[in-house]
Amino acid sequence: MKWIIFKPIAVILLLALVPNQKVFGQLDEIQTKVEALLKEMTLAEKVGQMNQYSGFWDATGPSPREGQAKDKYGHLKSGMVGSVLNVRGVENVRKMQELVVEESRLGIPLIFALDVIHGHKTLFPIPLGEAASWDLEAIEKSARIGAIEASAEGLNWTFAPMIDISRDARWGRVMEGAGEDTYLGTRIGLARIKGFQGDDLSLNNTIAATAKHFAGYGFAEAGREYNTVDIGTSTLYNVILPPFKAAVDANVKSVMNSFNVLNGVPATANKFLQRDILKGEWDFKGFVISDWGSGLEMIDHGFASDLEHVAEMAANAGSDMDMESYAFISHLQKNVEDGKVDIKVIDDAVARILRVKFELGLFEDPYRYCDAKREKDLLYHADHMEAALDMAKKSIVLLKNEGQVLPLNKAQKKIAVIGTLADDKNSPLGNWRLGSDDNTAISVMEGLKKYTDQITFAEGAELVVGHVDFVNEAKINTTDKSGFAEAVALAKESEVVLMVLGEHGFQSGEGRSRTNLDLPGVQQELLEAVYEVNKNIVLILMNGRPLTIPWADKHVPAILETWQLGTQSGNAIASVLFGDYNPSGKLPMTFPRSIGQVPIYYNTYSTGRPGPKDIVFWSHYSDEVNTPLYPFGYGLSYTKFEYSDLQINDSDPTKVEVSVVVKNTGDRAGEEVAQLYIQDKVGSVVRPVKELKGFDKFLLKAGESKTVKFTLTDNELGFYNNQGEFVVEPGDFNIMVGPNSMELMIKSWVKK
Ligand code: BGC
Repeated sequence: MKWIIFKPIAVILLLALVPNQKVFGQLDEIQTKVEALLKEMTLAEKVGQMNQYSGFWDATGPSPREGQAKDKYGHLKSGMVGSVLNVRGVENVRKMQELVVEESRLGIPLIFALDVIHGHKTLFPIPLGEAASWDLEAIEKSARIGAIEASAEGLNWTFAPMIDISRDARWGRVMEGAGEDTYLGTRIGLARIKGFQGDDLSLNNTIAATAKHFAGYGFAEAGREYNTVDIGTSTLYNVILPPFKAAVDANVKSVMNSFNVLNGVPATANKFLQRDILKGEWDFKGFVISDWGSGLEMIDHGFASDLEHVAEMAANAGSDMDMESYAFISHLQKNVEDGKVDIKVIDDAVARILRVKFELGLFEDPYRYCDAKREKDLLYHADHMEAALDMAKKSIVLLKNEGQVLPLNKAQKKIAVIGTLADDKNSPLGNWRLGSDDNTAISVMEGLKKYTDQITFAEGAELVVGHVDFVNEAKINTTDKSGFAEAVALAKESEVVLMVLGEHGFQSGEGRSRTNLDLPGVQQELLEAVYEVNKNIVLILMNGRPLTIPWADKHVPAILETWQLGTQSGNAIASVLFGDYNPSGKLPMTFPRSIGQVPIYYNTYSTGRPGPKDIVFWSHYSDEVNTPLYPFGYGLSYTKFEYSDLQINDSDPTKVEVSVVVKNTGDRAGEEVAQLYIQDKVGSVVRPVKELKGFDKFLLKAGESKTVKFTLTDNELGFYNNQGEFVVEPGDFNIMVGPNSMELMIKSWVKK
């Protein structure tokens, strides 16, 4: 190893000794080092730290405009790059790190980022699926394993978790979040951050997390990707911002801004969001990364005249690092020289970035994540597979089970398996899986074969025509029914039919908005054709968002929601079908009856005419009921749970205790998620008809009961007014507990 490899350490040691010690006396050790290093840097080098390039493959967005890419290698060597994304693998990472550390003047190491969204090599269920588990421990473990595998491939920063709340299933990225609810989304976001970052960021198996996208991205108008976001203060403060505030309080290292315009101002140049709230009121200590080219997009938004203008506005508004817009690297130095951006803005941004690099331990050893042995030993480790299986089972939601069709008897004869997704090893991996290998999922057919030899497969209908991948739009088969006859004939001679239908894994995710939520292509027709000859159907849904399946709900006796469950898909599904695992998931997002109800969510305000009334003038549709097909929080089990004895004890008004007795009245053990909702009946700003404020997941043996306890403090009872102040108001509340957001025991309570 050449001496020069230790250049960063040498620089720091040297600088730490310079006579700044007194000035930095009260500051922490890292701050001292950051300040000392900053003093050594030229303006160009500072701007370089604020620049992030994508690696030279796996682009995750449109290519930069002609001519803007310039000489990426040259920039690496001259210290003009602070971070890269989409470079992975110990060898690649080491090579690029060496280039920067050995060749650039100060040798400041790069941070290596990737979207590690639901596992890295070993894939866990898509995040929306994991959210259906309501199991924070398992979710934290999933992120932990994602971090272990990603760091073993040389990475030290993930662009996750996505903590955007969204109520609109037309938006394809709901697959990447935790659903529609702020309370659940916050708890899950925190679990994921803890899993990625651990307790000590300098360990070689922890990575920096990113809370994204700040802010409002999940509220794109009409669910169309990248569309305008225009929302009121109450929704912003109470629904969208709380998960980000919690992430900042939990010391998340970076926040990503977003592509959208929020109330007329692009998030990337939004001072109100980034300066006033994030770095001001919340005192965020990490740094803000732009989204891919989101700076450049401000020109198309009609907010910036050119790239120079972009750089000025983004930096002044608090964006610290520019991903693939080439704005900072091309213009920020000039912006400073022209007096348009204060050097203090640059120093603050660079200090934030350097701080995270120190915390990651990169100055002590820039190659601490480049351990070829770890890479070899840890990817697809057996323990990771086991955890992925556990998580996959927990993410499955039983939506219907009439006549106890499920679980199947292990001696069941003549099982037909219909639907192309049943035999697919790729689609169940889901979207956002940049580190993974294609076709590594256990298919449903493979999973089932471990239980029985009584299965026969028919494709029925090809769901997607041709090749689909991360960057290409899926082409749906809407015409070809040539496989129907074989499927129908098979169903006719079978005792039970397992129909595996839904979306291809690349039909949800970024850029995959839909205007209808039906089963894509000819799948609905296939389902109906099979039903004609055999009604004993179990519908196994695979999808990245809520779908509209009213026909299936009416006719098909059993429905299982399995999302895209990752590497262990088929094993998890088979164990639920045959009853080795009793399903325990609950929906993190409302399932509509019809696309016209979207956005549909449980925590609505009451209108002034909630109805129902016998004349037409109340808030309703003429052609559909208001209620969802399956509500938020809903999910069945192979056993039954009974709720009784709702009690409220407010002897200590700072900790109101709510309790309920839950009994397993069925004949097998099962897990239940008891949910606590409140309604503040009269508020200075109107409050929702119900809001989730607590939940508990527990296992009960057959016949066993448990007193479940929740605590309500001012944190749960208060809300943000339209000035963004958190207020707690006395008055009448409804306290509700139950198995989902619609079947609730209810008690009135007065907050003094
Ligand atoms: C997405 C981000 C992602 C980035 C880098 C963008 O298109 O919106 O969430 O982190 O690409 O892959």
